[in-house]
Amino acid sequence: GGLAAAGLGSFWLIDMIVNDDFDSVSDKFRTRLPESERKNRPKVVLLGSGWGTLCMLRKLHTDMFDVTIISPRNYFLFTPLLVGGTTGSIEVRSIIEPIRKYCKRSDANEATFYEAECISVDPVKKTIRCVDNSAVKGEVSEFDLQYDHLVVGVGADNQTFNIPGVRENACFLKEFNDTRVIRDKIIDCLETASYPSQPEKEIDRLLNFVVVGGGPSGVEFTAELNDFLQSDLLKNYPLAKRIKVTLVEALPHILTVFDKKIIDHVEKRLRSSENTRIWTKTAVVGVKEKDIIVRNEKKEETNVPYGLLVWATGNAPRKLTTQLIQAIGTNVQNNRRGLVIDDYFRVAGADGIWAIGDASINPSKPLAQTAQVASQQGRYLGRLFNDLAEEMYNEKIKSKDQKLEQVTQEQQPTSTVFQTTTNKSFDSFIKSQPVFKYRHMGTLAYVGDHQAVAEFKGDHSTTTSEGYITYYLWRSVYFTKLLSIRNRTLVVFDWAKSAIFGRDISRA
Ligand code: FAD
Ligand code: NAI
Repeated sequence: GGLAAAGLGSFWLIDMIVNDDFDSVSDKFRTRLPESERKNRPKVVLLGSGWGTLCMLRKLHTDMFDVTIISPRNYFLFTPLLVGGTTGSIEVRSIIEPIRKYCKRSDANEATFYEAECISVDPVKKTIRCVDNSAVKGEVSEFDLQYDHLVVGVGADNQTFNIPGVRENACFLKEFNDTRVIRDKIIDCLETASYPSQPEKEIDRLLNFVVVGGGPSGVEFTAELNDFLQSDLLKNYPLAKRIKVTLVEALPHILTVFDKKIIDHVEKRLRSSENTRIWTKTAVVGVKEKDIIVRNEKKEETNVPYGLLVWATGNAPRKLTTQLIQAIGTNVQNNRRGLVIDDYFRVAGADGIWAIGDASINPSKPLAQTAQVASQQGRYLGRLFNDLAEEMYNEKIKSKDQKLEQVTQEQQPTSTVFQTTTNKSFDSFIKSQPVFKYRHMGTLAYVGDHQAVAEFKGDHSTTTSEGYITYYLWRSVYFTKLLSIRNRTLVVFDWAKSAIFGRDISRA
């Protein structure tokens, strides 16, 4: 126990050093803005409360900026452990954190949060339009905001390739509520299949759980479902032995981003389970209420009845991202994955707009759409904003730059610090800053039955590991990455609870 605690402690410390995560400490050693300058702080609007924006917010010196966060959800979701919520291995409330907790730094430096969805950006007027999409509406349910700097961190939507019937019939695996829907449906299928005189064919349909997409999300869910089946469902439902989990992947292999050794290991493991089928080289081309249409490599189409359908075929840009791409112009914004950015996360073709995480793409250095990438980008951009603000502010004090001093309140109603009126001066500052350098810490995935896989890519070689020890590494890494002691405590209790008492099968 002592050894494990020491191991976790050291990993935690190394991780914080590597990621320069000592925010509260670095906060004490920075330039403080005099009261007279505070009202002129640049308006920074962050869109989203996910990996990228939260990591940026945690870095940002909020006394230098007037920060507003807009997101339709008022919490941060720790996605790497989300799949566990579909079966009750963990409760999803254990892996969320209220965003307002991170808005409060000190009485003077509070960031503002509005729970709303940004539906459009006007890159010329530098305004955004937001709407309340929650159930409770007040007299005001839409508003506009002005920004000096807009950071788009809205993540990505579920990719459906416009395949008919997907949105109407499939469950997704991205948000808090998705896990509740899936958990509910698994149990509902079993309860309905257990009705007296339920026809055999209907039982087979109800108990065919189809997962579309053999990427990490689809594979982790298949693994989690198998665990649920073996440990809990078989004990409680006589019919559970008839459950089939069918993983459908269009490519010749699952987990194609991983090393071949890992692919072979995972395919073999999943195929060894009696209840699991992996259909590779098979694409889902249509979805109906009770059947999917699959097309094999010979282009033959077959109807496959299902009870539960989970759709995990990757990411697509969100509506807002597409709107902004259109508003800027597709001559510069010409990438299907998201907003084209440069080495400093500036959105091409727009002044004062930045983008990070899944919503963005730097075509000269494309990166995976992962939390690891988004969090490093957020931290970098937070630091960059701080450094720019501080450097420009200090410069202004030192040189008493005539141009800046002459700018009156009327001419420049927004920012005097982190000046953007003269793009030239702004650009000259930014170009002196080091560009973002991504540090890949490895890729981990849970593959079921207390086993995980890990891949660490060096410049010249790749190291892989699979099995039980890797599973403890997987747990330790994500445990230390959880944002708060509260989250860590809840997750440990959830893991212990499901190990001791089993997962809950109530449909509540
Ligand atoms: P997100 O974290 O998705 O945040 C986007 C935010 O924007 C959300 O708060 C959302 O509510 C908000 N938003 C959406 N639309 C609007 C709007 N119109 N206006 C304002 N706000 C808006 N990555 C890993 O590195 N390791 C893993 O193990 C891992 N596991 C994963 C497991 C699952 C099931 C999933 C779905 C993803 C996983 N990922 C993992 C990928 C990772 O979650 C994403 O890459 C990461 O969340 C991207 O961060 P982001 O900040 O770009 O977006
Ligand atoms: P993905 O893009 O990684 O994989 C989707 C898979 O679906 C692909 O293999 C694709 O060939 C397949 N597919 C697409 N259309 C299909 C169809 N019609 N029929 C059958 N198969 C089809 O998407 P995923 O798994 O949703 O992951 C999204 C992002 O989140 C990725 O960037 C991933 O790296 C990240 N992630 C990382 C995790 C980790 O590091 N452990 C866990 C989960 C997600």
